[in-house]
Amino acid sequence: MKLPVYLYGHPVLRKIAEPLEPGYPDLKKLVADMYEAMYDSEGVGLAAPQIGKSIRLVVIDADPVSENFLECAGRKLTLINPEIEILDGDKIVRAEGCLSLPGISENVPRVEHIRLRWLDEDFQPHEEEISGFLARIVQHECDHLEGKVYIDHISAIRRQLIRRKLNDIVTGRVAVDYPVRYAPVAKRK
Ligand code: NI
Repeated sequence: MKLPVYLYGHPVLRKIAEPLEPGYPDLKKLVADMYEAMYDSEGVGLAAPQIGKSIRLVVIDADPVSENFLECAGRKLTLINPEIEILDGDKIVRAEGCLSLPGISENVPRVEHIRLRWLDEDFQPHEEEISGFLARIVQHECDHLEGKVYIDHISAIRRQLIRRKLNDIVTGRVAVDYPVRYAPVAKRK
C-alpha cells in the first residue's frame, strides 16, 4: 500500500516529533515506503510527520533539482534524529513548496550554510557542512520534525493572500494527483 501524504490542517503536522530509537520496528521498510511516496509525488524531501508518524525521520533525494542547484547532484540522505547548527546568519529568499501544501509556493528566507549531524538508517553517526539549496531542503524537512511548515516563515500579509488556498487544503477542497490524507475536519465537496 502506498503511503498517503498528510495535508496541511492535520494535527500530526503540528506535533514535535519523537526521537527514533534503534530497534524501531520495520524501520527499513518504512524508509523504503517513504522514498516511494516521495518519488510518486515528485518531491525532493519527505518527513515522517507527513506520512502520519511523529518520529524524527526524513528522506531526501535532491538530485532532480541539480540542474539548477549543482550542490544537489546525487544527494540522497536518510536522516534520523537530525540536528542543524546554523553556520551563516545571512538569509537568502527562494521559493519553496511542500507535498503537504499542494498548489502553493512561497518565498522563504533561510540561511545558506549549516552543519548537519544525523544518524543513518543503521544508526551510524554522520556530520557534514551543507550549503545552498540542499541546506534549504534539509531545513525545510527538519522544520516538519518541530511541528512547523514553511509558510510559518512567510509574512502575515502573504499568509493573508493565500488564506483561501490554505482553507481549501484544510477543508479538503483541493485536487491532488498523489495519495493524500486530509485533515480530520475536512469535508470533501
Ligand atoms: Ni514540507
